[in-house]
Amino acid sequence: MPRSSFRIAPSILSANFAKLGEEVNNVVAAGADWIHFDVMDNHYVPNLTIGPLVCEALRPVTQATIDVHLMVKPVDRIVPDFAKAGADIITFHPEASDHVDRTLGLIREQGCKAGLVFNPATSLEYMDYVMDKLDIVLLMSVNPGFGGQKFIPGVLEKLKLARARIDQYTARTGREILLEIDGGVKVDNIAEIARAGADTFVAGSAIFSAGKDSDPHRYDTVIAALRDELKKI
Ligand code: DX5
Ligand code: ZN
Repeated sequence: MPRSSFRIAPSILSANFAKLGEEVNNVVAAGADWIHFDVMDNHYVPNLTIGPLVCEALRPVTQATIDVHLMVKPVDRIVPDFAKAGADIITFHPEASDHVDRTLGLIREQGCKAGLVFNPATSLEYMDYVMDKLDIVLLMSVNPGFGGQKFIPGVLEKLKLARARIDQYTARTGREILLEIDGGVKVDNIAEIARAGADTFVAGSAIFSAGKDSDPHRYDTVIAALRDELKKI
């Protein structure tokens, strides 16, 4: 799965939905590693976006990893639908599932990598008893529901804590868990975020606003600028 030690995952939430397939191809051609797929239900979060049918439609368009971020409640009912639709990774918010361990197991049984998503005010303690079932941990650096929000700086300290927990676990077991950050990631803060411990970076507005209504090749420029910043680490 990893193409380099850092992964860039454009969130298609900020893409042009009338040209979604094209947008996915353009960001992948511009150097994106993953496609971050934000699923919102107007119940767990106050917005409504895309579901398994859209995932299924995009699957044949790209070989890139599809990273499905579920912001839905309940969680379990929809997991098999996304697995069948071609998701590679499925993450969910622990508050949205009554049985976190069971939901993680269900995602893996369906053949996907599984992960937990922590809102800015959600305690990392949810990780402690399920480390063996985690392939990825996602920290939200905005409150979920919308693209284009500002990075919450307090999450940098939380990233360091999550990094320490993961490193300790890896030292003990030899198994790696990715640490992803989502919300307000830009060229001017990605290096600081990486230094705090993230290895996978979701970026929606930073990438898609660069090419919108203009030249999609500008995606190259932003992704290259993000990678240049990461080279400083
Ligand atoms: C927010 C979503 C994010 C968002 C990121 O609920 O989970 O993935 O689209 O967008 P930016 O990078 O614009 O903050
Ligand atoms: Zn997301």
